[in-house]
Amino acid sequence: TAPPLVDPFGRMITYVRVSVTDRCDMRCVYCMSEDMNFLPKRDLLSLEELDRLCTAFISRGVRKLRITGGEPLVRRNIMSLFRALSRHLDSGALSELTLTTNGSQLADHADELAAIGVRRINVSLDTLDPTKFRAITRWGDHARVMAGVDAAQKAGIAVKINMVALQGVNDQEIAPMLEWAHGRGMDLTLIEVMPLGKIEAERADQFLPLSLVEARLKERYTLREIDFKTGGPARYVRIAETGGRLGFITPLTHNFCEGCNRVRVTCTGTLYMCLGQDDAADLRAPLRASASDELLHEALEAAIARKPKGHDFIIDRSQTKPAVSRHMSVTGG
Ligand code: GTP
Ligand code: 5AD
Ligand code: SF4
Repeated sequence: TAPPLVDPFGRMITYVRVSVTDRCDMRCVYCMSEDMNFLPKRDLLSLEELDRLCTAFISRGVRKLRITGGEPLVRRNIMSLFRALSRHLDSGALSELTLTTNGSQLADHADELAAIGVRRINVSLDTLDPTKFRAITRWGDHARVMAGVDAAQKAGIAVKINMVALQGVNDQEIAPMLEWAHGRGMDLTLIEVMPLGKIEAERADQFLPLSLVEARLKERYTLREIDFKTGGPARYVRIAETGGRLGFITPLTHNFCEGCNRVRVTCTGTLYMCLGQDDAADLRAPLRASASDELLHEALEAAIARKPKGHDFIIDRSQTKPAVSRHMSVTGG
């Protein structure tokens, strides 16, 4: 069998995030610009090609696959990819197949996702207030997301809520979100906003350091350090009063790159070795060049050998352009 993918810093790549579309049925203000140019459909990898690519990664020791977007559930026929990939769960090669979704189409797919073996999903939700939800997502329908969360829980899928902390936008809603999520038996993870892509808002105005949020929460709650890891970058605590878990994803205030285990593939087969860097490798050409995976594996090895030590995100007013020019929606975080 082929050797695992290990980068120059000795980090083994066990987690791949695969974006299946750059499109989304929402336009979150921190993620996309109001008018986005999307890729023509002909540039996308087919679902069969995405399956082949994922399978190649799995043969190299990847244990966790997360399907992302844009919004993954807007890709036509996406369930056939999930169905195909679930064979790796059955064989035990893959320990987790999951997705990150905005929840809008979740009610339609929850039962099938559960049946296929998806145990846990992450739903992005920045506010419980429908009016504010509209303001943040521009196009989103809060009620549909709620219905999606309900359906997922009913289907027996564990739901984690992801909330991007935004100064002056939802900073007052962190405690209510925590009470709501924990009240329903869901984990909540807070995320620091990262400077990717050109958006209409000023990142420096929106940036809310989670160190500050944590200090504020400590005035109301008891936070206990726990030994809990998901494979993602969050540090988790347990809130004594609710009994639930709260995660912090802190690329800006506390760098976690040292433990990085992941890479990202876009819907056109571009491999990004780091979320916070522009360097990328094309996997589509080697994938299409031959039916054997030899060239693909060569390209993978060459790319992983270039994986950078970490990101160099900063958010401050002297910045004239974002650290990374692509939007978050290119790789789905
Ligand atoms: P689990 O830990 O499995 O729940 O997932 P995760 O946290 O890896 O995935 P999720 O999609 O919930 O990620 C939440 C957000 O964390 C992403 O959208 C990114 O914004 C951020 N994130 C995840 N991985 C990285 C990373 O490697 N670097 C940075 N800077 N941010 C990351
Ligand atoms: N910074 C941090 N998180 C972001 N997301 C989208 N854009 C950004 C950004 N600029 C989050 C979404 C979702 C996940 C895929 O990434 O809210 O939870
Ligand atoms: Fe890994 Fe880059 Fe994320 Fe750091 S920023 S954890 S190196 S993907």
